[in-house]
Amino acid sequence: MASEGCQIFNPAEKVAKISHCSSMEQYKQMYEKSIKEPEAFWGEIAKDFYFEEAVTGKFVDYNFDTTNGKIFIRWLAGAKTNICYNCLDRHVAAGKGDQVAFYWVGNDPADAEEVTYADLLKEVCRLANYLKSKGVAKGDKVAIYMPMIKELVVAMLAVARIGAVHSIVFGGYSAESLSDRMLDAEARVLITADAVWRGAKLIHLKEIADDAIKICKEKEQNVRLNLVVQHMKNVTAPQSVTNGAANGNPAKKTHFDDKGNYKVTWNPEVDVWWHDALAYMSTECPPLWMDTEDPLFMLYTSGSTGKPKGVLHTIGGYMLYSATTFKYSFDYQPNDVYFCTADIGWITGHSYVTYGPLLNNATSVLFEGVPTYPHTGRFWEIIEKYKVSKFYTAPTAIRTLMKFGDDPVKKYDLSSLSVLGSVGEPINPEAWLWYYKVVGDSNVSIVDTFWQTETGGHVITPLPGATPCKPGSACFPFFGVDVALLDEEGAEIKGEGEGYLVFRRPWPGIMRTVYGNHERFETTYFKKFPGFYCTGDGARRDKDGYIWVTGRIDDMLNVSGHLLSTAQVESAMVEHSSVAESAVVARPHTVKGECLYCFVTLAEGCEFSDKLTAELKNKVRGRIGPFATPDFIQLAPGLPKTRSGKIMRRVLRKIAVGDRDFGDISTLADPSIVEVLFQHRPKEGKV
Ligand code: WT7
Repeated sequence: MASEGCQIFNPAEKVAKISHCSSMEQYKQMYEKSIKEPEAFWGEIAKDFYFEEAVTGKFVDYNFDTTNGKIFIRWLAGAKTNICYNCLDRHVAAGKGDQVAFYWVGNDPADAEEVTYADLLKEVCRLANYLKSKGVAKGDKVAIYMPMIKELVVAMLAVARIGAVHSIVFGGYSAESLSDRMLDAEARVLITADAVWRGAKLIHLKEIADDAIKICKEKEQNVRLNLVVQHMKNVTAPQSVTNGAANGNPAKKTHFDDKGNYKVTWNPEVDVWWHDALAYMSTECPPLWMDTEDPLFMLYTSGSTGKPKGVLHTIGGYMLYSATTFKYSFDYQPNDVYFCTADIGWITGHSYVTYGPLLNNATSVLFEGVPTYPHTGRFWEIIEKYKVSKFYTAPTAIRTLMKFGDDPVKKYDLSSLSVLGSVGEPINPEAWLWYYKVVGDSNVSIVDTFWQTETGGHVITPLPGATPCKPGSACFPFFGVDVALLDEEGAEIKGEGEGYLVFRRPWPGIMRTVYGNHERFETTYFKKFPGFYCTGDGARRDKDGYIWVTGRIDDMLNVSGHLLSTAQVESAMVEHSSVAESAVVARPHTVKGECLYCFVTLAEGCEFSDKLTAELKNKVRGRIGPFATPDFIQLAPGLPKTRSGKIMRRVLRKIAVGDRDFGDISTLADPSIVEVLFQHRPKEGKV
């Protein structure tokens, strides 16, 4: 990734002309104010929102230094608000009730629906009233395990309206992952749906939710309400299934009755249909006025110890930050149609499908399907149909679609586009250029937005009307974000150089704690460099001050934009009785960015076979979810360990790609193991 002498792409003129921030001078001025006078900067922004009570204490207060006591972050002390009110009621009151909030687009192109702000508000109130009637109160945790349907947005907003806390689990996670998260969050209420088509695959959400509820029960946590959206009766099944074609989905036989209705098993003690529950509920429900530092949601993210962390965000700061980043990073304008392809189950969907867009009174596309079903032009077809102007997706999706060439893109009129965003991992310049030239017809601004579940919103990003971009660089910090690069000793690297990417002070959207484990919050993010929030990523600053995020520097890997920890996968593997020990590393992958490459040492008398690798893959799928399935599993008669027993992962990473350039391996207890492992590599192509 060359930073020097690489081509610079200026903001598209059509964007700069009308932009909220239309030059680097303006960016610098605003940025400086956000750092020097955070209270004045964010105080001005806060005026756009409704607060039932104003700030009474310090506007911002924090400690980032573990040697000074506990880490804490507080914004807008004493103020009271409700984020759901700011997302919906505020706009309806301003006469925007009839405006479309979401164009829902189903997995099958035949399925589509429009939802206005007024519709959303009514539905949210009905659900909020129902939850209240079932005793769900302020501070209660509500787990949500749903497909990309409007009821998911309704669920999160209803929970927020009554002061409860949502914990959304991505609909691709397994029953065990779901129950782990429900147990940790102490969630006794779950909202789910019967099932969903994802491409031609049927995901049995209710069945998985049932299993998760069973696991919770075994661990003495009784779920008392499972609210189920009946989604299947409203959607078109894939052709292969309706035709009963030879390769028809086997689900057809087991999960549908004679009339073609989807069947669910029902536990009347806890299960309630969403439509029954809401039928007689009032469409009015006053919001509960909350402290700005009350929790809004938790969202689990992988931790390097293997146990997922419940990243906790609070109401006031997250509201200001998700709204402001949405407004500036995409340069949102009143007539835009915005489309973010991320699932709401990830932070990108929280901040940039639900909260950021709704807080800005935006009109968005809510897409249930996948980019390649029923054809590889699906995204482009949607952009043409709804005249999407701002589009946000992940490098892995761009690389998948690039493989099909330019034709599927060129078939559609994409001239409505003006800003294209990227998120999830560093975008390789080749994918950046294809996105810019082929999708954007060289007449768009690209924004490569760097951020994390923990940061709540974009922290390093170009602004589409202001920043001249270098493909592959996330460019400059967002307002309020004070970036530093540190070396291993914690000394600051000024000017050009590469080091640990850290932030010196809190921006409003930073997480406040790890749910139930504040100490883990302090150790993970603040212990290594007292006084700084540590991202866990490395980054380089070039001679022009551009930031290039180079990737994780801990034992995390990024598969298709989703973080996994090596420990999480290793512990799933060793659950298999044939496996004595396992070590997992990332191997570069042309579409996924990184994929899993696993080394397994077998227990005495066990044999390595195709059957075993299939079982191990299943184990990881069951424990974590299908997206974590390993691409490679190889036999390891031994692992390269130092004398103190630490696995030297950099050696394993070399073996994974077939590179013999190991560097210094003299500290290994048995250097000869490296050659043995090399001999056991699977043949290329065989996984
Ligand atoms: C990690 C956070 C935040 C939304 C999706 C992932 C990597 C994310 C970029 C980018 C380089 C990126 C980092 C980060 N990452 N965006 N534009 N350039 N790297 O959220 O699961 O919390 O993962 O994703 O490594 O730490 P997440």
